[in-house]
Amino acid sequence: MKEKDNVLDGNKVMGDEFESNIRPQRLDDYIGQTDVKENIRVFVEAAKMRDESLDHVLLYGPPGLGKTTLSHIIANELGVNIKTASGPSIEKSGDLAAVLSTLEPGDVLFIDEIHRMPRAVEEILYPAMEDFQLDIIIGTEGSTKSIKINLPPFTLVGATTRSGDLSSPLRDRFGIVCKLNYYTDEELSTIVKRTSKIVGIPIEDEAALELAKRSRKTPRIANRLYKRVRDFALVGGYERIDLKITKSSLERLKVDNYGLDAIDIEYLSSLIQKFNGGPVGLETIATSIGEEVTTIEDVVEPFLLQEGFIKRTRSGRIATEKSYRHLGINHSYTIFDTQEEE
Ligand code: ADE
Repeated sequence: MKEKDNVLDGNKVMGDEFESNIRPQRLDDYIGQTDVKENIRVFVEAAKMRDESLDHVLLYGPPGLGKTTLSHIIANELGVNIKTASGPSIEKSGDLAAVLSTLEPGDVLFIDEIHRMPRAVEEILYPAMEDFQLDIIIGTEGSTKSIKINLPPFTLVGATTRSGDLSSPLRDRFGIVCKLNYYTDEELSTIVKRTSKIVGIPIEDEAALELAKRSRKTPRIANRLYKRVRDFALVGGYERIDLKITKSSLERLKVDNYGLDAIDIEYLSSLIQKFNGGPVGLETIATSIGEEVTTIEDVVEPFLLQEGFIKRTRSGRIATEKSYRHLGINHSYTIFDTQEEE
């Protein structure tokens, strides 16, 4: 696989201290996702009034929209501890049992990428979620026995980029299911200005809006681009980030007017030039540009679909007129079978 510049990659980077410093701590500081935020505010309040643990919460949506941030806020608003784990890191049922046994009454257990948890582990989670009971098997082959351990009431907050990949028994055990959507430019601009206040390098309004417009509607990307523009401003001797330094920095970072980066452009160019605009299958296009199928499906395509650069049809992906225009390629033949998948 190719080396990637991660500026526009919606994926998380381990140990990103910058991200945790600028993360809002309370619902009032969380910008956008108004419906989700206001519903969660009510459910948290009601759980506190009843002195019960909050029902389990499933947060889903594309990477970088603030699922982890929201889970920390939920714990803060409830006034409880949060323990975090991720689907792929819980390999064995014992790993999950170990985390569950550290929980105190009312705590939040956050499991990121919950769709990547092995099925055998998932099965331990069902009684834990439903009855706060841990069913574990001890002993070795031939002499095993099953024991039940009571757990304190807790709230599982699961995050996933693919709610469709969750098994239905798991999905059904979440009482609160929230879909996070892409942000508006105005919301992202407010997020960038908030970040600049925390970090201490001011950004002018029009510069913040420009950054927002090129951030793939994603706060994680907006904050990352802010961080890079701040570097260019610092080295260039700027005291504030204005539109000029923002535009020139973004040009150097190869982020175009729509916020498309090198991988997006490569995807669209390949779709149009190698495959005549499609239809082409996911694996074929991923291989043609040397990227992982999951990166294409979870990170690259959701934004291209949302912005109308591509369509998914029953026979594969196709490039839209907008892609041809964006790449400056003449679109002189007919697209067959443009029926949408859903
Ligand atoms: N950082 C990431 N998501 C955010 C949001 N929704 N509001 C404020 N800061 C954020």
